[in-house]
Amino acid sequence: MPVITCIDDLKRMHRAHTPRMFYDYAESGSYTEQTFRENTTDFQKVRLRQKVAVDMSDRSLASDMVGLPVSMPVGLAPVGMTGMQRADGEIKAARAAEALGVPFCLSTMSICSIEDVAEHTTKPFMFQLYVMRDEAFVEAIIGRAKAAGCSALVLTLDLQILGQRHKDLRNGLSAPPRMTPSTVLNLATKWGWGAEMLRTKRRSFGNIVGHAKGVGDTSSLMSWTAEQFDLKLDWDKIARIRDMWGGKLILKGILDADDARRAADFGADAIVVSNHGGRQLDGALSSIRMLPEIVEAVGDQVEIHLDSGIRSGQDVLKALALGAHATWIGRAWLHGLGAMGEAGVTAALTVIRKELDVTMALCGERDIRNVGRQNVLVPAEWSHDYV
Ligand code: GLV
Repeated sequence: MPVITCIDDLKRMHRAHTPRMFYDYAESGSYTEQTFRENTTDFQKVRLRQKVAVDMSDRSLASDMVGLPVSMPVGLAPVGMTGMQRADGEIKAARAAEALGVPFCLSTMSICSIEDVAEHTTKPFMFQLYVMRDEAFVEAIIGRAKAAGCSALVLTLDLQILGQRHKDLRNGLSAPPRMTPSTVLNLATKWGWGAEMLRTKRRSFGNIVGHAKGVGDTSSLMSWTAEQFDLKLDWDKIARIRDMWGGKLILKGILDADDARRAADFGADAIVVSNHGGRQLDGALSSIRMLPEIVEAVGDQVEIHLDSGIRSGQDVLKALALGAHATWIGRAWLHGLGAMGEAGVTAALTVIRKELDVTMALCGERDIRNVGRQNVLVPAEWSHDYV
């Protein structure tokens, strides 16, 4: 077993193991990738305050997310096509999350279906919904998530239309991959991936195929979103979805204080400050940079989570210090999965947990719930750089 020191170690292994079209799908932002890059570089600009001579025994990372206990405030964010990074990827990730006591959220655009993941896990997971034009499909999939006992619905609000990721177009991204000459050449170097893929039946969008009617080409995420995602999604529709679901609702993709106020008034159980990992509105500011403004607007009214840009436990601590109640990781766990399957997701979570624990101690805190503004320094220009 290789020594895993940080998420970057897993990222290198992910890249070596996985066909280019799927690795690139994960490791892309839209258009110029400015927002994608700044999501991580802005985390580096937030600095930590060192504190010494404080008791650092009996530390606790335990917290809660929408009222559910978690061993640390870090969830596995929904990622489309995870089962193409590794065979049965969603099942493997859900099992690793459950063993370590953190939430796993299954994407609508997953390869393993809701039922499949439920069958292979013992604890409830969350389900992420994309709203489709086909209302019968939406109603049915919400019913399926309820039947599977999902613990919360995560409604994504920032992807009704797809931001272009250049590499996906160039690579002809599809699930399962279409056999063009360059794909075949690349696959020939990824025999470990291929051997596992041949042993599974799960190779297309499990929540969609056989469930949605009149669907043209399901293999392409791009053509599918263009055909099926509901451009008319608005607050009335969100209310209808809330009523259909009837359980805990998390609104994901909030990056603006007014939208956050609307979501808080609406009564969401939590919002996720997110720019979809820099995959949608290129040119938007990073999530960590927008967080303080949103916390100031609604921090006392709604639980605030953050995703986009977290690659370490230090990043988690910074987000919590700036007012997030919890965080979500995407690429960080996907690199683990691509690198080593279920053991890799466990490794990613273990790396982040250790980094978070040590960083918290060196900041002079013993309980993750006490981490706050006192633990970080933020560049002065952040408050007046953009108006
Ligand atoms: C889907 O959620 C994507 O970002 O590709």
